[in-house]
Amino acid sequence: MDEIDVVRTLNETDKKILTMLAEKSLTVSEIEAQTPLDKSSVLNSARKLFSKDVIKLATLSSVQYSLTDLGANYHRTGLPECILAKLLIKRSSITYKDLYSLSGLDEKEFSAAIGSLKKANAIEISSVISGNLDKLNHVIERAKLLDSVGKGESLKETPELSDMIKRGIIKVDTDLQQNLEITEFGRKILQHKEFNNLSVDKLNYDVIKNWKDFSFREYDLNAEVPQSVIGRKNIKVEFASLIKDVLVSMGFSEMHSNYAESTFWNFDVMMFKQNHPDRDIQDTVYIDAGRATVPKKILNNVMSVYESGFSDGKYNRSIGQRMDFDTKKSDVLILRGHTTSTTFRYIAHYIAKSPEKPFKFFSIDKVFRNETMDATHLLELYQIEGIVYDDNLTLRDLTAYIKEFYKRIGIDQIRLKPTYNPYTEPSLEIQGFSPDLGRWVELGNSGIFRPETLRPLGITKNIIAWGFGMERMLNLRIGLDDIRKLYGAFADLDLLRDVQVGKIFKGSP
Ligand code: PHE
Repeated sequence: MDEIDVVRTLNETDKKILTMLAEKSLTVSEIEAQTPLDKSSVLNSARKLFSKDVIKLATLSSVQYSLTDLGANYHRTGLPECILAKLLIKRSSITYKDLYSLSGLDEKEFSAAIGSLKKANAIEISSVISGNLDKLNHVIERAKLLDSVGKGESLKETPELSDMIKRGIIKVDTDLQQNLEITEFGRKILQHKEFNNLSVDKLNYDVIKNWKDFSFREYDLNAEVPQSVIGRKNIKVEFASLIKDVLVSMGFSEMHSNYAESTFWNFDVMMFKQNHPDRDIQDTVYIDAGRATVPKKILNNVMSVYESGFSDGKYNRSIGQRMDFDTKKSDVLILRGHTTSTTFRYIAHYIAKSPEKPFKFFSIDKVFRNETMDATHLLELYQIEGIVYDDNLTLRDLTAYIKEFYKRIGIDQIRLKPTYNPYTEPSLEIQGFSPDLGRWVELGNSGIFRPETLRPLGITKNIIAWGFGMERMLNLRIGLDDIRKLYGAFADLDLLRDVQVGKIFKGSP
């Protein structure tokens, strides 16, 4: 386009911004701060100026760290591990009990602090605890990190820093900014003799009447429309519907439920201990929206098995957790951490009501984890849950379902490994081989529900069940190294436009 054509398509906002940029390049929020314009008007102009080569755009990202409430508290009182380190430096060895009472920490903080010192190889525990002076001094240095964050200094990404983020002591605030810079062509536009003509882009009675006295903003009717404007479904949605087809073809019906869930259906019904680390604020997303309603009868049954087990014959008996069950911990609202909560709702509401019929259920739904996002961890992820209820189900049935499912998805190289789950026994972890990473990666988890989880609902047959991570499976299918490319601020738009998830593979005849 010639200079004159470009000049005539600029409105007053565009011109104002361009004039500002002639002096120095600015970010969108700087322009916002120096003009009465709002963000979307600045962005609109920026896009237009960019499409006409008048300016260059660059994305700047700035990362800032700040102390959470917990962090501010530790900044005042000292980090638990530093408190212990200081005590240990003064003594060559001390018993666990003495250290605990000297520290003044509560039980949970104390054991976390011991864990953290162990991880740093700063202590050795036998009948007494003895410390390594160098390493303990190193641990004490961690306090400096809190000072720097408190002062708003910029920081390097160290393992210590990510550890503190994970522990909820420091939080990250990322800011993405578009930086606008005028081009050579832009400078020519600025000097064009028509640049300062007032160009009209809104018509009114006066303007129409005296139209000869005005110059009008021109619209570029021949502008090319970029191909990428054409949309398609996000690959995750496409992949989920492919999986749905596979599971429906295997005879499963779909379950639905809500993101918000009670700790009862997420944990208690599965016999998670009420002080289980998964319930920690670091792993679970709590929501401040009142209390949940929990079905009284099932709650009482769960409480009874939790506290003292059950017995229905010589071989089928359990001693339970042998701990008091606190009903106040059952109606807390959270964002569900797994869809096994949905599974148990369906067991209670469908299977328990017709225990003579066989059932097969699945769900593909979002779950939430309070994690630090990186190449293999997301805060929101899709889980593929499945259960089978029938007579005489065994581990062989479970492995057969899993292998058949992955085969139909097109992932052949999988292996199963014994693992531990509070609510299944036996339990199997599913691993898939990633040629891109050259190693086996965890894809999911499965097992046979423990009788303790089923008796309170009145179920006496076996139920086999699994939960697979959808994003990791998708990574294997399309050979992706970083989950963040699929979704959110780091999405790779070219990849999302071009990638193919492919077809369903035929299963065993
Ligand atoms: N809930 C488990 C998880 O989140 C998966 C699972 C489901 C395991 C059912 C066993 C049985 O990883």
